[in-house]
Amino acid sequence: MFFEVSGITKSYGGLVANSDISLEFEEGAIVGLIGPNGAGKSTLFKTISGYVVPDRGRIAFRGAQISGLAPHRVCKAGIACTFQDAKSFPKLEMFETILVGAYCRHGNKRRASARAGEIIDFVGLGGKESQMTERLNMFDRKKVELAAALATEPELLLLDELFAGCTPTEVVELLKLLKKANETLGVTLFIIEHVLKVIMSACQKVVVLDYGEVLDIGTPDEIVRSKKVVAAYLGEDYDASQYK
Ligand SMILES: Nc1ncnc2c1ncn2[C@@H]1O[C@H](COP(=O)(O)OP(=O)(O)OP(=O)(O)O)[C@@H](O)[C@H]1O
Ligand SMILES: [Mg+2]
Repeated sequence: MFFEVSGITKSYGGLVANSDISLEFEEGAIVGLIGPNGAGKSTLFKTISGYVVPDRGRIAFRGAQISGLAPHRVCKAGIACTFQDAKSFPKLEMFETILVGAYCRHGNKRRASARAGEIIDFVGLGGKESQMTERLNMFDRKKVELAAALATEPELLLLDELFAGCTPTEVVELLKLLKKANETLGVTLFIIEHVLKVIMSACQKVVVLDYGEVLDIGTPDEIVRSKKVVAAYLGEDYDASQYK
């Protein structure tokens, strides 16, 4: 199996943020992770990427155990993450921000710079290389987050609410970019998102968390028809057709 989470449990004091979470998916997939605020979605991503050490359970990537590895080793193994509260190097020029990511694979400055340049073109930020990241508009900063993660050349990319705050037009543009990364770079995507249009239109599989537990796993169509998901998250007046 490409990616496998088995029985991951993580408590903060008396609060069980992740409780016995198990899931798996194949290479090349686009998988969604949804659930109410506080359900434990970000905690699971932080555990996968090595920033949080689980109390129990195992995470395997291409058959090798990665749980317990430090974040830079998880990144080296091929898993990158963009964070919900990310502000990548605001005081660096945009090019340098992406370059930091590229150094994960290329120790040589010339090769790392070439890679950073390719990724900047890939996300459509060409021409803004020397601007300070914090001076870019919100949408361009989102692309910087994505580009910095892609520059590490991940096989699996975790995106924690990358679309938050985007206009509908920006959502469409960012979605196109993610599908291009999936199709042309072969990056498998695991996406936390409250913007359900993203999940329903892009994902082949959706995992629903509630109170730290897996509530349901299925295709988008199965998930919108799941009674327990409607009760816990989507709401009775959720209109599945509007997200197609
Ligand atoms: N470092 C921490 N210390 C203590 N409690 C934490 C910590 N991180 C998360 N929690 C708690 O764990 C629970 C799960 O949080 P988490 O951020 O994983 O949820 P989430 O599903 O990402 O929510 P949201 O949709 O609001 O981003 C919450 O109750 C949160 O308050
Ligand atoms: Mg979160």
